[in-house]
Amino acid sequence: MNYTIEILRRQNRDVASYRQIIAYTTDDTEMTVATLLKTLNANPELTDCEGKPVAKIEWECSCLQKKCGACAMRINSKPRLACDTKLGDFRDGKIILEPLKKFPVIADLVVDRSVMFRNLKNIGLWLEKEARHTKKGEDIAYESSRCLQCGCCLEVCPNFIPGEEFYSAASFVPTARVLSELPKKDKADILKSYVDKIYKGCGKSLSCRDVCPAQIDIEHLLVNNNAVAVWKRSIK
Ligand code: SF4
Ligand code: SF4
Ligand code: FES
Repeated sequence: MNYTIEILRRQNRDVASYRQIIAYTTDDTEMTVATLLKTLNANPELTDCEGKPVAKIEWECSCLQKKCGACAMRINSKPRLACDTKLGDFRDGKIILEPLKKFPVIADLVVDRSVMFRNLKNIGLWLEKEARHTKKGEDIAYESSRCLQCGCCLEVCPNFIPGEEFYSAASFVPTARVLSELPKKDKADILKSYVDKIYKGCGKSLSCRDVCPAQIDIEHLLVNNNAVAVWKRSIK
């Protein structure tokens, strides 16, 4: 099968972006986009469809097992993990790789996602006091802990604008674990942040749920968080 891989390239923050198209032939439909990028980068003689040399393609990866979220990028306009996207998905052989759009581009497919971590810090999402692991909160805590902080949910969230007040699913998913483990008397600050930074801005459209590569039950976590933070009920 002949593939054309179009990559939105930008060597650093100070230069304009451009598109580069590279041809690649393989019968391995199980090959992932992550392996494809590694293979292309391993060829020092690589040229594009116009015969121009291809500079090393910048992208991020760590686990290559859908566990770290580092390789998130836009693949044919959808936010996906490169290590979880197989060439067999592209029947027409056209693959378009672009960086996530909601974050500043560092180079090529690498973006600065530090806003997600700043938001977690702003909510105060860490345990300083004694945490209680209860049978009741177990499922919530487990589901919440599966978040990769990949940013795919922010990419499609109509209400998330970096730097603005609404923090979106990448914040409320990890919040669920802390809410399930903190005793009621120690939750006040996090509950206030949750209402201000998440509950008030979320339109509950659940586009985030549909793109989450970890297939987290985002709706369940959102409903539970709202029940605890807004309606003052206990974890279900
Ligand atoms: S439910 Fe909608 S508004 Fe709320 S975080 Fe998800 S995509 Fe954004
Ligand atoms: S909720 Fe899903 S899409 Fe959002 S950051 Fe976590 S793993 Fe990624
Ligand atoms: S490299 Fe870790 S999720 Fe893809």
